Amino acid sequence: MSSTANNNQDRSNLIPFSSRLREGRALALDVWTIYNALNLPPDCINLGQGYMNFAPPKWITEAAEQALNSVAPNHYSHPRGRIRLREAIKNFYDPLFNRSLNVDSEILITSGANEGMYSVLTAFLEQGDEVILFEPFFDQYLPSVTFNGGKPVYVPLHPPASHIKKPTSDDWTIDMDELRRAVTPRTKIIIVNTPHNPVGKVFTRKELQGIANIAEEFNLLVMSDEVYDSLVFDNKEHVRMANLPGMWDRTVTVGSAGKAFAATGWRIGWLIGPKNLIQPTLAATTRIVFCSVSPLQEAAAAGLEQANQRNFFQIQRNEYTERRTVLTDVFDKLGLRYTLPEGSYFILLDISNVEFPEDYPFPESVMGRGRDFRACWFMAMEIGVSSIPVSEFYCEEHANLGEAYARFAFCKDVDNLKAAAERFQKIKKYIK
Ligand SMILES: Cc1ncc(COP(=O)(O)O)c(C=O)c1O
Repeated sequence: MSSTANNNQDRSNLIPFSSRLREGRALALDVWTIYNALNLPPDCINLGQGYMNFAPPKWITEAAEQALNSVAPNHYSHPRGRIRLREAIKNFYDPLFNRSLNVDSEILITSGANEGMYSVLTAFLEQGDEVILFEPFFDQYLPSVTFNGGKPVYVPLHPPASHIKKPTSDDWTIDMDELRRAVTPRTKIIIVNTPHNPVGKVFTRKELQGIANIAEEFNLLVMSDEVYDSLVFDNKEHVRMANLPGMWDRTVTVGSAGKAFAATGWRIGWLIGPKNLIQPTLAATTRIVFCSVSPLQEAAAAGLEQANQRNFFQIQRNEYTERRTVLTDVFDKLGLRYTLPEGSYFILLDISNVEFPEDYPFPESVMGRGRDFRACWFMAMEIGVSSIPVSEFYCEEHANLGEAYARFAFCKDVDNLKAAAERFQKIKKYIK
């Protein structure tokens, strides 16, 4: 073929990409891109994506520096993770799980919670196996399930009844019969997330027991995403699924140094569970990443080693409670309805009575999506505070349940939140 012929050919699809990218919304323009700071006015206050605008504690970053300045932690770790971190996890979590965790077979270090969960799905799903997700759900679950041949099955968390004027995250409820009806002979895994993103719900013992009963009855694996376990407020109890009677043997608990130590870019996470669940997952993670970032494993270890003696998590909880109050105070003063989160760092604001002109110059990316997509865009432009539309965390069929809400992340310093609160005064003229 002549070079001229070649030049006239459309070569953009020369190498077709895998059909698996067409599933699990992997190719869809995601909310993080649409509401990215680059697309918004430069002075817009970012309460959209859930990462902190402050650094990890100095005593932890110093441990990272120390690791970088020595030899071994600059090289491959064992795929299970560095022994110092596994031992730190054991010492920290033994009392919380009421058992002596085995560092060789019951703890696995992963490249963030995300990769850990992906590896569990790789290790346990057969083509066509069903995975139950509670909606709204952390968006990464979906492609992680479909890339591994799984089929997502959705069970909604029902929003607070409209007569509840000051709902808390506890007013978002699961219907156990709905859950039971979602189970089929192909169901393999239930993903539970407590404390929950984006609702802030801390599942009660009774709710978790209800889920556990179904997992027992139908022999299901439970992946319990507890990355916000250190961020539970108002003395609410964080119940661990693995601690419920009989559940240790079928539960993988997921943790994240990113959430615990304000270090989301470090990509250090961990899985805790019985040998029969951790060993196959080790085989998967070894082939996916081989091992996780070594120096930052050392730093995460320092974090867990010193957390109790420094009272770190209690102090951090107090700081987050103050951050939460900055936003809830302004919402209260403005008479806005929101869900008071009992855990994690998100507040859902009810935006059903925020009015905006339908002919507002919205970008293409938010058209044809839920009303919340347009409301969040409008608020970012006119109020100067960005948020994330909650219908994104539901499947298409149930998206209308999330449309009434915008998610605001309060993992930001108090000054930033106060500046956002100040800007919220402008919302008054758009409330009907
Ligand atoms: C519920 C939930 N699980 C997991 C993750 C991912 O954690 P990591 O950053 O450790 O991969 C997040 C991050 O936002 C999350 O909200």
